[in-house]
Amino acid sequence: MDSIIIEKMKMEDIDNILDLEKSHNITILTKNMIINDLKSSNNYYIVARANKKIIGYCAISYVMDSADITSIVVSKEYTRQGIASLLLEKVLSFSRENGIKTITLEVRKSNIPAQSLYSKFGFRKISERKKYYDNIEDAYIMQKEIPI
Ligand SMILES: CC(C)(COP(=O)(O)OP(=O)(O)OC[C@H]1O[C@@H](n2cnc3c(N)ncnc32)[C@H](O)[C@@H]1OP(=O)(O)O)[C@@H](O)C(=O)NCCC(=O)NCCS
Repeated sequence: MDSIIIEKMKMEDIDNILDLEKSHNITILTKNMIINDLKSSNNYYIVARANKKIIGYCAISYVMDSADITSIVVSKEYTRQGIASLLLEKVLSFSRENGIKTITLEVRKSNIPAQSLYSKFGFRKISERKKYYDNIEDAYIMQKEIPI
C-alpha cells in the first residue's frame, strides 16, 4: 500500500475535500464553513494523503474540554484500509495534548460503517435525535471520554 501521511489541512485543500464528499453523494460541510473554520482557532482539520493526493479528511470543533467530530470521509477507493482509523487516532492524540476530555458526534442511524468505526474507537451511543437529518432521518449521538 502507498505510504500515508496525516497532516493539517490547508486552504488549498478545500476543493479536494468537497470533491471527496461529492464522490460519496454527501454534503457535510460547505466551502464557506470550511474557510471560516480554518481561520478559527477552535477547529482542527486533518487530511490523509497518499502520493500527495488527498484520500480522506476529518474535522473537529472544540471549546474548552469538549470537542465534536463534524466530519470524517475517506475516498471510496481507499475504504477498509485503516485510513479513518489513522485520522481518528490523530484526533485522539490532538485531544489528549489539548486537554479535550469528551468527544461527541452525530451519526445517521443507517450509517453502519461509521457507527462500527466509532464503536471500535470506544464511542458509545448516549442518545438519539429524531428526524435530525433533513427532517427525515434520526441520528444517534455518540460520545467518548478521553482518559487523562
Ligand atoms: C465511515 C468511513 C469514514 C470509514 O472509513 P474507513 O477508512 O473505511 O475505515 P477503516 O478502514 O479505518 O475502518 C475501521 C473500522 O470501521 C468499521 N468499518 C469501516 N467500514 C465499514 C463497513 N463498510 N462496514 C462495517 N464496518 C465498517 C470497522 O469496524 C473497521 O474495522 P475493521 O476493518 O478492523 O473491521 C468511510 O466509509 C466513509 O468515508 N464513509 C462515507 C462518509 C461517512 O459516512 N462519514 C461518517 C459520517 S460524517
